[in-house]
Amino acid sequence: MKILAIETSCDDTGIAIIEAKMGLKTPFFKILANLTHSQIELHRKWNGVVPFLAKREHAKNLVPLLEEALKKSSLFKKNNKEKNLPEEIEKLLEREVELFSALKILLPKIKIPKVDAIAVTYGPGLEPALWTGINLAKALSITWQKPLIPINHMEGHIFSSLLPENKSKPKNQKSKSIEFPVIALLISGGHTELVLVKNLMKYKILGQTRDDAVGEAFDKVARMLGLPYPGGPQISRLAEEFKKEKSIGIKFPRPMISSDDLDFSFSGLKTSVLYKIKDLGKINKEIKKEIAFEFEDSVTDVLLIKTKKAILKNKAKTLIVGGGVSANKKIRNALQKIVEEIGVKNFYLPEIKYSVDNAAMIAIAGCFRYFKEKNQFDLNKIKKIKAVGNLKIK
Ligand code: KG4
Ligand code: ZN
Repeated sequence: MKILAIETSCDDTGIAIIEAKMGLKTPFFKILANLTHSQIELHRKWNGVVPFLAKREHAKNLVPLLEEALKKSSLFKKNNKEKNLPEEIEKLLEREVELFSALKILLPKIKIPKVDAIAVTYGPGLEPALWTGINLAKALSITWQKPLIPINHMEGHIFSSLLPENKSKPKNQKSKSIEFPVIALLISGGHTELVLVKNLMKYKILGQTRDDAVGEAFDKVARMLGLPYPGGPQISRLAEEFKKEKSIGIKFPRPMISSDDLDFSFSGLKTSVLYKIKDLGKINKEIKKEIAFEFEDSVTDVLLIKTKKAILKNKAKTLIVGGGVSANKKIRNALQKIVEEIGVKNFYLPEIKYSVDNAAMIAIAGCFRYFKEKNQFDLNKIKKIKAVGNLKIK
C-alpha cells in the first residue's frame, strides 16, 4: 500500500509518500519521500508563528514539494495527452489562488500516480494553515479519484516512532510490534498529553496540561533568556554547557508533581523562571546556562513521574513518545531509564527528525487508518472534511 500525505498544521509544510506492508504484529514501512519546508526563519522575526504568513508559505511551497516527492518516489510520470482539471477544482480552490495556479500547471501534465490514498492533517493546529493542506488534498483526491483520509496531527505524533530509521529495505528493518495497552506521551509546542491507547486507534486522554504546553514553556523561557524561536533546542544546547561547580544554587518548582491526577501545569514554572531572572538583575551566560539546566531538569522530573504513574496504573506494555519536545536528549535519556526501571516491554521514541512536525508521520497514521477503516473513505464524503483547530484525540 502506498499513501501520500500532507501536513500543514503549523509552520512546517510537509509532503511524504510511504509504502507499507500492513499487519499489527509486523507492519513494515518504507519512506519513499519525506519533504519538509520549514518556515522558522520567517516566523523568528515575530518570535512565534503568524497564522496568515504560515498559510501563505504553505500555499507557495506545497505544489513544488508535491512534484519533488513524486519524482523522488519514481511516481512522477508525464502524460502524453494533457487532461484538464475537473471543473469542480476551480470552485474548490476559489480562495486558494496560488495553489490553484500551481496545480493547473502540474496536474494536467502528469499521470495519476500509483498511490492508494491521500492522508491529510485536519487538526489540531492553525485553521488557516490546515485549510491549505486540506484543499490541496481534496483537489488531488478528486482529480485522481483516490480516497482521502483525514488525520489527527497528534495521532501522527503517536505513530512517528514507528517510522523506519533509514531508507533500508523492509527485510533489513527491525519491525516494531505494537502491544496494547500503550501509553503515549505527547509533548509538543501545542500539547502535553498522556494518552492511553487500549487498542489500535482507540484513544483516551488520561491527563493533559492545564495551561501552557511543555514546548510552549521551553519557547517562552528561551525568549526570557534572549534566545531565538523555537526555544526548545536552544535551551537544551545551553543546558548541556552548564557546569555544576559554577552553580549559584538556582532551583525551580516541580508543578503538580504530587497531584493524584495525570495533569500537568507549566505556566507557574515559567513564571518562577521570570521572577528568578528579575531577582537576579543582570544575568551572565553562566547563569543563563544554569537557568536552562534547572528549567529542563524540572520539566523532565514532572514528565517522568506522571508517565511512570500512567504506565503502572494501566499496566502498559508499550511506551510511545512523540512531539517536538521528544527531540530533547535529557528527556529521552530519562524516559529510557524509567522504562528499564519498571520494565516496560516496548519503548519507542521517534528519530529526532521525526520528532518535529513532518508528513511521514501523517502518512504512517494514514496507513493504519486505511488498513483498519478502508471502506469508510468514500469519495462522496470528501466535501465534509473541515479544519478543526482544537481537534481532540479519541
Ligand atoms: O511537534 P512540534 O514540531 O510542533 C507542534 O505540533 O507544536 O513541536 C515544536 C516544539 C517547540 O515548542 C520546540 O521548542 C520544541 O518542540 N522542541 C524542543 C526541542 N526541539 C523542539 N523542546 C525541547 N528540547 C528540544 N530539543
Ligand atoms: Zn506537532
